Amino acid sequence: MNNFVRNTHKLNKHYIGRLYSQVVTPFEVKAEQGSCVNYDKLIEQFGSDPISEEQIRRLEAITGKKPHHLLRRGVFFSQRNFSDILDAHEKRNSKVPPFYLYTGRGPSSQSMHIGHLIPFIFTKWLQDTFDVPLVIQMTDDEKFLWKDLDQKTLRTMTVENIKDVIAVGFDPKKTFIFNNFDYMGHMYRTVSRIQKSITTSQVMGCLGLTNSSNIGKIAFTASQAAPCFPSSFPHIFRDEKLNSKIKCLIPCAIDQDPFFRITRDISNKLGFQKPCLIHSKFFPSLQGNNSKMSASDGMSSIFLTDTDKQVQSKINKSMSGGGATLEEHEKFGANLHADIPYQYMRFFMEDNDELERIGREYSSGRMRTMEVKKIAVELLLDIIKGHKQRREQITQQTIDDFMNTSQDKWK
Ligand code: TRP
Repeated sequence: MNNFVRNTHKLNKHYIGRLYSQVVTPFEVKAEQGSCVNYDKLIEQFGSDPISEEQIRRLEAITGKKPHHLLRRGVFFSQRNFSDILDAHEKRNSKVPPFYLYTGRGPSSQSMHIGHLIPFIFTKWLQDTFDVPLVIQMTDDEKFLWKDLDQKTLRTMTVENIKDVIAVGFDPKKTFIFNNFDYMGHMYRTVSRIQKSITTSQVMGCLGLTNSSNIGKIAFTASQAAPCFPSSFPHIFRDEKLNSKIKCLIPCAIDQDPFFRITRDISNKLGFQKPCLIHSKFFPSLQGNNSKMSASDGMSSIFLTDTDKQVQSKINKSMSGGGATLEEHEKFGANLHADIPYQYMRFFMEDNDELERIGREYSSGRMRTMEVKKIAVELLLDIIKGHKQRREQITQQTIDDFMNTSQDKWK
């Protein structure tokens, strides 16, 4: 970092992102020309910290659980105050949960794509590992404000997405799912306190908004910030006196960090703990590692509703890191980093030894692209099949149980 950047950082960290040529906000991911997002630089740009080997070792030591493959393989790679969560878990007593988990989803399409599963799969693992409450926010208001979608369409999208989220397998006794349009009244007091503490210019700089942005977009930061504070969930955290002590851990893709950077700045002033974060990299699109999978672009994504044939054909056409000709492939081997089927295996294949074997064989040129694509197709079909089966079991009653605002299940 040169001096100019360093000094500017001190002046106003919210503007720091503008000084780099890659732009990452919740609404725009732009890498430097022709390359993929530079994640080391992003850590520096955002002022977060890498997840250390020591933290992963400690997590294993205190929970007795083998660290999740998304953690071991560096898909989750960055954090803010994650050690505080480990401390809280170590010092826990049986009466109050040491922290809670918060994640969310903006329902902008009828069907989620496989990349959307990643933060949820990891969140489920965290919930199982730490046995803590989890709140999941559906930001139907966000998508209404940002996209050309009417409220009726959004309602169906929200319900469909909620089913996809539930199908990941969260514990219904410890999970609360809510959508902003319907839940807002319960958290509006907290939302207003947040709105009062953040200025328009802070939000604009951090999210890349302008003077002509609609005012809903400016105010929305408070909707996404509110669940970081236990006062937004009086049915879960009933003893108000504890609200200043309870911590929150947010697993999310790193593009969501700007919201929480603003939130962390005001937390103490409002009498709450700063939210802790654990960030993932983006899930690459079928076209290659330099763009992320987007549900609004049907050709860049594999949807959870795709048929077996569609999945197969999409993977077969996806960006390959194999050699251009067979001779070249045998001579130089495959570029694993550029190879989308291999990259998808890194996200979804649990078996470490098998993944390593494929990586070794393929990068040395001994294994062919078609073979790797076939393994990737089988893996994804298996995941989608399991997902569809669990999703079919979901009834209106299941949804109501997850979205119930009564205190009963939290006693
Ligand atoms: N803004 C996120 C999206 O568009 C949804 C979201 C709300 C979220 N709260 C969150 C994501 C907390 C991660 C963590 O998908």
